[in-house]
Amino acid sequence: MWLEKISLLNFKNYEELELSFSEQINCLVGENGSGKTNLLDAIYYLSLTKSAFSTTEAQNIRHQAPFFMVKGLIHKNDHDYQIQFSVQGGQKKVGKNNGVNYDRLSEHIGSFPVVLITPDDTDIIKGGSEIRRKFFDGLISQIDSVYLENLINYNHVLKQRNSLLKQFAENNNYDSDLLDSYSDQLLDFGAKIYAYRKAFVSSFFPTFIAHYDNISGQKETVKITHQSDFASGNYRKDFFQTYQKDLVLQRTTKGVHKDDFDFEINGFPVKKYGSQGQQKSFVIALKLAQFDIMKLEKGIKPILLLDDIFDKLDDLRIAKLVEMVAHHSFGQLFVTDARPERTQTIFQPIEAEKKVFVIQQGTVIDESFM
Ligand SMILES: Nc1ncnc2c1ncn2[C@@H]1O[C@H](COP(=O)(O)OP(=O)(O)OP(=O)(O)O)[C@@H](O)[C@H]1O
Ligand SMILES: [Mg+2]
Repeated sequence: MWLEKISLLNFKNYEELELSFSEQINCLVGENGSGKTNLLDAIYYLSLTKSAFSTTEAQNIRHQAPFFMVKGLIHKNDHDYQIQFSVQGGQKKVGKNNGVNYDRLSEHIGSFPVVLITPDDTDIIKGGSEIRRKFFDGLISQIDSVYLENLINYNHVLKQRNSLLKQFAENNNYDSDLLDSYSDQLLDFGAKIYAYRKAFVSSFFPTFIAHYDNISGQKETVKITHQSDFASGNYRKDFFQTYQKDLVLQRTTKGVHKDDFDFEINGFPVKKYGSQGQQKSFVIALKLAQFDIMKLEKGIKPILLLDDIFDKLDDLRIAKLVEMVAHHSFGQLFVTDARPERTQTIFQPIEAEKKVFVIQQGTVIDESFM
């Protein structure tokens, strides 16, 4: 699978852009703030129907413009797909595949997998549990649409249950039958999500360890443990026992929306005790395992987006990654770098088609094969 063309209208700092990419390696170079990450984000958008960085759609629309559009031509298994997403300020997002509108954008997710590696990824280790859930949910959703459906349903019921708890508090009344009906639905969707996550972590783990050992060059005991209220054999009973607490706090305090994934090296949490190098190895191994799992499940190599990773990685880890690129472990690759000469040095020796795009203030001022 590969992205041949992209066109952007008013996406972030791009007013208008049309590019043709290489099927293999694409290097996006340019000064800080020129638009390298924004271009990767547009590619991410074509796959996941949302930005990897912006929290609202409004942030994706170029300042003062009324709308944005991201369009891409993707080749997959001898078929061509013209994918398009657009958002008109304040209106619902529209997505099209070969001219046909999606009824629901979730239908699109997983069709054209991408894996993004960015400097922010250490948040997966350092940040709160929601970031780890987002990582695993994103991954499982891309390989299993039923999981995504369950997750959407769960979040929907959770929202309803929380507003009900608020209403009870505001009106000073309490309808236990109504609350029960939401609780039952939440527990049903939750049990499925729990089972999926648990099974996923065990199948993901061996791949993760292999990458960790390779990248770190060390044999350390690494561990990923899925923590969930649903792990208790009594989760139904436990859940119903939290009613009083939920009513007081006006939100649902137990459930899979509280799950976490513990990361450990040699028996200690990576978050607290891992060295910077161990943390870096850990996140890269997570992402490469993501790549492998998606490749295995989909039968195609995801597009790999590497944002500014040369700044953050030491020579050993860069060498490991480059070795994988050289062995064609990856499919189409996009790499950003503010230092063109470094990109040149790293990729020059690799035998593959390499295209370099020089970006300046939201415009590609030069493109050439390396
Ligand atoms: N909605 C928007 N409208 C206009 N400009 C935007 C919008 N969103 C972001 N930008 C601009 O895009 C630029 C940042 O682009 P981007 O993050 O892609 O830079 P970069 O080339 O990756 O830089 P770095 O090397 O620092 O990572 C900033 O100048 C920012 O102001
Ligand atoms: Mg950037």
